[in-house]
Amino acid sequence: MNKDLKGKHFLSCEDWTKEELNIVFDTSFELKEKFYKEEPTRYLLDKTLFMIFFEQSTRTRNSMEAGMTQLGGHAHDLTSDKMQLSHGESAKDTAIILSRMGHGIASRNCFYGIGKDYLAEMAKHSTKSVMSLQDDVYHPFQGLADLMTIFEKFGKNTNALKVTVSWAYADTHAKPLSVPQTQILLFPRFGIDVTVAHPKEFPLSDYIVEKAKTNADEGGGSIKFTNEMDDGLEAAQVVIPKNWGGYGAYGVQEYLDNEDDCKKVMAENLEKYHGWICDRRRINLADKNVKLMHALPADRNHEVTDEVIDDEKISVVFDEAENRLHTAKAIMALTM
Ligand code: CP
Repeated sequence: MNKDLKGKHFLSCEDWTKEELNIVFDTSFELKEKFYKEEPTRYLLDKTLFMIFFEQSTRTRNSMEAGMTQLGGHAHDLTSDKMQLSHGESAKDTAIILSRMGHGIASRNCFYGIGKDYLAEMAKHSTKSVMSLQDDVYHPFQGLADLMTIFEKFGKNTNALKVTVSWAYADTHAKPLSVPQTQILLFPRFGIDVTVAHPKEFPLSDYIVEKAKTNADEGGGSIKFTNEMDDGLEAAQVVIPKNWGGYGAYGVQEYLDNEDDCKKVMAENLEKYHGWICDRRRINLADKNVKLMHALPADRNHEVTDEVIDDEKISVVFDEAENRLHTAKAIMALTM
């Protein structure tokens, strides 16, 4: 196992060069092959990962915990209510202590205006790798699994591949911005032409959009925006219909100062866009060999119809979910 990346934090794909990310993808494919052959991959024998979840998770929690077991180590599945965090112990003290007892720390903290900074504070004080399991801005593990899935379906040369990230209606909860923001930052670095479709009331954060444009210029991809879902899906080779909340319409401080008002306006805006669903008519606007991706959990029959997400010729959502395991194992094996 290449250990040049040992101790490197994984808070965002932005902090990793394309060369480093390619090492991660090569390692992910190698680990996936060994997983299928049931070959042992005990690269982290006797090592400990501490996982702190401030929110629910199915894919992230289980890909990390199963991944640690398969790598020969152990993951502690912690929630804030089990820890002195709930009595106000600082991120700094928590990180120092856990990094003295184990070999890596991973956390999900999606509170808007808080999560990314919380993880950065842990990383500043941890002597071991700190990994983001999703925050209010980034979901780097999801980005890796998404790109790995694209490589599997379209090959590793993704230049000029047309990927559409579309906002979609959901009524379960206002989903974080972190998945689409990670995708629009990452994909153009690999030459992908990204289209983002969203109602005008549901923008992504301005500074992320500006950085995505820079990444596109440097990586050979492109990024464009539309406020029409049909327009966004036209000729797309990959369609990702996904809800996100309207947080991008607010500066963080503005949101934190007026949280109740902001939530009320977001809820009113949401009701205007029930029609933003990926259904059979819309997927037919895309390329004839289109693939449907979604980070999951999907809000079925709101974001995407059962008919489309269950269409095995189109939908690759379960391959994408499985790739969370292989990419998680790669990051842990390389950094811990
Ligand atoms: N896609 C994703 O992060 O899923 P979970 O919330 O279940 O971890």
